[in-house]
Amino acid sequence: MTVPAIPSPLAPLQLRHLETLQQAYGEVLTRLGLDGVLLYSGQPRRHFADDQEASFAAYGHFMHWTGQADLARSWLLIRPGQRPRLKIHAPDDFWHLPAYLPDEPWGEAFDIEMARDDAPPLLPAGRFAVLGDVSAALAESLGADGNPAALVGALDECRVRKSDYEIACLRDANRQAMAGHRAAREAFLAGGAELDIQLAYLSASRQRETALPYASIVGLNAHGGVLHYQHYDSVAPARRRSLLLDAGHRHRGYCADITRTWAGPDADPAFAALIEGITALQRRLIDALAPGVDYVELHQRMHRALGQLLAEQGLVHCTPEAAVNQGITRAFCPHGLGHSLGLQVHDVAGRVDGAGRPLPPPESDPALRLTRELETGMVVTMEPGLYVIPMLLAPLKERVAGRDIDWPLVERLADHGGIRIEDNLVITPSGHGNLTPAE
Ligand code: GLY
Ligand code: MN
Ligand code: MN
Repeated sequence: MTVPAIPSPLAPLQLRHLETLQQAYGEVLTRLGLDGVLLYSGQPRRHFADDQEASFAAYGHFMHWTGQADLARSWLLIRPGQRPRLKIHAPDDFWHLPAYLPDEPWGEAFDIEMARDDAPPLLPAGRFAVLGDVSAALAESLGADGNPAALVGALDECRVRKSDYEIACLRDANRQAMAGHRAAREAFLAGGAELDIQLAYLSASRQRETALPYASIVGLNAHGGVLHYQHYDSVAPARRRSLLLDAGHRHRGYCADITRTWAGPDADPAFAALIEGITALQRRLIDALAPGVDYVELHQRMHRALGQLLAEQGLVHCTPEAAVNQGITRAFCPHGLGHSLGLQVHDVAGRVDGAGRPLPPPESDPALRLTRELETGMVVTMEPGLYVIPMLLAPLKERVAGRDIDWPLVERLADHGGIRIEDNLVITPSGHGNLTPAE
């Protein structure tokens, strides 16, 4: 007996998303004098001299149409006004489960070939480009341009403003990630080690580690101050001062990127006050999100607010302005306020304007990944932070700024690592919407 599929509320949205994409690709290809583009999903890398493979995520532009992050060695041909043609690598293989299609409406909108081989499809006569992880030699053998910058830039731009379908997927990814965050917090409060917290996160958010959009950052105590901390200690520390958890989820290709910070039973009261301060600061910055807002200006505003928080909490004895001007706030928070979010956790086209002209970050903020004006449909993260990073703070001791810092208080906080609070927001015509559910 076959069970009829339950219609997904995403189905009509997905079909509209594909129509919009078809039109946008048609315009770009026609403008660039191309008859079509062949998108390669990519393939997993093998470890050197081994038969084991690294985890894999398909090329963003391939996922933009299919949402399939794990469809490897497959090819998608897009031509203006014609149905997309997808060649899926599905060899007869008793070692692995062959590739299969999800029950989603895009399957009906495409011509699909399940192929035993992974060779690129023959291209019709005309001028084509091929995009993805392909060699120049392969592009040449197809008679196609390999990854031409003008086309890549124009298609990146098509990913900047999300469709209603994409926003629904990002909201779903957030909902599932938040279920993980809740369980992870419980595991922390129950005395779990970093590894226990990660396992609780994966279990509650229903995903395996290789499917994560990025490796979860699970930092207990001082590890919270290592910005992309990558280990999972299997033994809990004797004193539990803090947890910084930055962990996401991928839904139909789309990424959630959420951070929470919790004080533990052994936290210094000053740390809990700082968490409150960063949480309030993040809410104020979120309130400012709207079309037309310059994200660089918002980032500078974060630094002014961090200066104020450092002064209020007694970490500096100077004015908030002096804390910014002397580089103190940047030593406490060396990363950017946030970035664009979508099929990649750090999504494309964050540092160019709508015409593809470079918008480099200010010299003082080389890590800022989003430097453009906000527009309706963009999805961005907001993730102010405050950390004790000895490598960045120690040099201040040698400078005039060092006199303005309360070093004994910094010392007391050092074993708490740091704080980051990160939500995912969509820009709407009247302001913004928060895709991240409340805890
Ligand atoms: N999880 C990486 C970031 O927040 O940018
Ligand atoms: Mn982020
Ligand atoms: Mn993050």
